[in-house]
Amino acid sequence: MNIPTIVSLAPLLDRLFDEAEAAQGTTHAAVADLSDADRARMMRSKTDYRDLYGRLKDAPLAVSRETGALLYMLTRSSRARTIVEFGTSFGISTLHLAAGLRDNGGGRLITTEFEPSKAARARDNLSAGGLIDLVEIREGDALRTLSADLPDPIDLVLLDGAKALYPEILDLVAGHLGPGAIIVADNADFSPDYLARVRTPRSGYMSTPFAEDVELSVRIN
Ligand SMILES: C[S@@+](CC[C@H](N)C(=O)[O-])C[C@H]1O[C@@H](n2cnc3c(N)ncnc32)[C@H](O)[C@@H]1O
Repeated sequence: MNIPTIVSLAPLLDRLFDEAEAAQGTTHAAVADLSDADRARMMRSKTDYRDLYGRLKDAPLAVSRETGALLYMLTRSSRARTIVEFGTSFGISTLHLAAGLRDNGGGRLITTEFEPSKAARARDNLSAGGLIDLVEIREGDALRTLSADLPDPIDLVLLDGAKALYPEILDLVAGHLGPGAIIVADNADFSPDYLARVRTPRSGYMSTPFAEDVELSVRIN
């Protein structure tokens, strides 16, 4: 019996999650000169996100281990073949999604990141995991990189870049989402507009918060 990709990836993922946890001090230091109010404002800003994430260019900012497992399980259970990810960073979430695609028999994952050094690290990690052939890393601002050449349909979307842009990124992918398509939005509490949209009855989505940091939405018509 073949060993599932997610099982053989465990040592790499463990190391990357350990490194991400160890880097939390560096992450806090990168924004230590900002007041809590300034940090919250930047997290919600549609214009200051470049500055915020520039400060955090060496920080992995990865999804939690639980969210990583959820991404793999959703990819498998939906038999996803096409995935779009907003916010690659070092590629930890991307590895879970791409492992799901591999274990589904193949597919295509488009992910996007505007910090070149992070895109390079993600490429290295995906190569180390033997999954780079399934992944297209689009370097640049997602507002541009996801504005064209998206697959039809998109089976699953992960929103994990600048929180304030979640509504705009949803606009870019929405026309490609058929009934049953899944959207996972990490830390969507920072984007009340997004939550209002996917939670509105008759919006075409069913949506619910999951654990502390995930909003899970499914396109229902
Ligand atoms: C929370 S991290 C992503 C973590 C990653 N999903 C993981 O779990 O490993 C968010 C990333 O999105 C990138 N980002 C934020 N806004 C972006 C934008 N508008 N376009 C492209 N990348 C963006 C940041 O540079 C950062 O690396």
